[in-house]
Amino acid sequence: MVEWIAEYLDGGNRQHPVLAQVEPGDVAARLPDEMPTVGEDPEAVWQDFLDIVLPGVTHWNHPGFMAYFGITGSGPGVLGEMLSAALDVNGMLWRTCPSATELELKVLDWLRRGLGLPEDFFGFLTDTASISSLLALAAAREAADPEIRHRGMNGRDDLPAMRVYASDQAHSSIAKACLTLGFGLDGFRAVPHDAEYRMDSEALTRMVAEDRAAGLRPLAVVATVGTTSTTSVDPCNEIAKICAREALWMHVDAAYAGSIALSEDYRWCLDGCERADSFVFNPHKWLFTPIDASALYTRHPETFKRAFSLVPEYLTTPLSGQVVDLMDYGVQLGRRFRALKLWWVLRCFGLEGIRDRHQRHIAMARDFADWIDAEPAFERMAPRPFSVVCFRARPEDLEGETLDAFNMKLLEQVNASGEIFLSHTKLDDGVALRVAIGNLGTVETDVVRCQELLSEGRACLSAR
Ligand SMILES: Cc1ncc(COP(=O)(O)O)c(C=O)c1O
Repeated sequence: MVEWIAEYLDGGNRQHPVLAQVEPGDVAARLPDEMPTVGEDPEAVWQDFLDIVLPGVTHWNHPGFMAYFGITGSGPGVLGEMLSAALDVNGMLWRTCPSATELELKVLDWLRRGLGLPEDFFGFLTDTASISSLLALAAAREAADPEIRHRGMNGRDDLPAMRVYASDQAHSSIAKACLTLGFGLDGFRAVPHDAEYRMDSEALTRMVAEDRAAGLRPLAVVATVGTTSTTSVDPCNEIAKICAREALWMHVDAAYAGSIALSEDYRWCLDGCERADSFVFNPHKWLFTPIDASALYTRHPETFKRAFSLVPEYLTTPLSGQVVDLMDYGVQLGRRFRALKLWWVLRCFGLEGIRDRHQRHIAMARDFADWIDAEPAFERMAPRPFSVVCFRARPEDLEGETLDAFNMKLLEQVNASGEIFLSHTKLDDGVALRVAIGNLGTVETDVVRCQELLSEGRACLSAR
């Protein structure tokens, strides 16, 4: 199995269609309804993995994966993950695995330094950015109302409805956090964007003032560094000033783009984030770490503890209160040894190695954007700050919905090739296709192949 994994990572992944070419139900139909009564030969299980499971896998770890955000579960990360599964520790308390806690805090501190974030940022790992942002907004709620911990929000006449602000380009996880925390979807306020898909900070100021005048309780602003559709960067300095003036919690969602700030040339994208109350980025996105691993930082760890810590007798230890017990900073009790894979990645690549890979990804995205700009048959739909390009085919005679439909067909045609997988989004001018580069195996010829498939697909659809 280890050999198979090594071969897979070393180009074997190219033998598979990047987007699973199965119909709904195909995989399930080949699996028995009952679980086995007696243990089976692992060889038989392996064969079924190859025959039944593998055809239904969309290969995120494939050089042709350019959908959503390209990611890589790198060799070192996979090895770290294997070790963590073998040890099977639960790092809920310092005592239940001192190394899990101490390695996690150390690795997160390395990354904090690497990103140029302030010393008083305390960092820990969660599974995903969605959960990191949920925890951060729960901490914001705790900070805003000291009675929330005991009285909650139910039936309280003294507690005005809370409002969380993020740009209309923010990830849906922010609105989901509002749903989960009891603010409701009405509690999420989508701030309009400017011409480059960044939050309009003047509109934010206006919306906060309107909500206060209406008797509502502005609570937090979520700034995005690297929005999901176009990777635009919100004006964090401006947002930080507004948050300071209005006494609002500032959370930064840098899930995708945070990693790039490990390169000095890209530090600018975190300008203003040093003033945030909390900050998240995902090593499982652009830091070569197998999913899942999300790094959450805050300068108010005590607020997180107030929001979440609840210690029953059976979880007390002689060192309770003297050591960091990571169960105190979030909802879950059990914690995987996620830091191990991240440590392997950081040790084996080093800062220079990471920067070098990022530069290559950005160079390929730049080349692709240049190609789009030079091709009359295509047009660019947003700036390209990092390694994602938004564009569309532009047949002369099409507009509006027919143009969108044409691009959706083109997308399906490219994806049916099994060589490249792209995704789409909707921008101000309509449907945009996205090329997102982030896999360590992706090379220039993959980008050229993507261009060929797009050109061929466009010509073929136009001819119909
Ligand atoms: C900006 C942003 N935030 C949050 C998320 C959610 O990430 P996760 O899957 O780790 O919850 C994404 C996912 O693409 C994202 O782009």
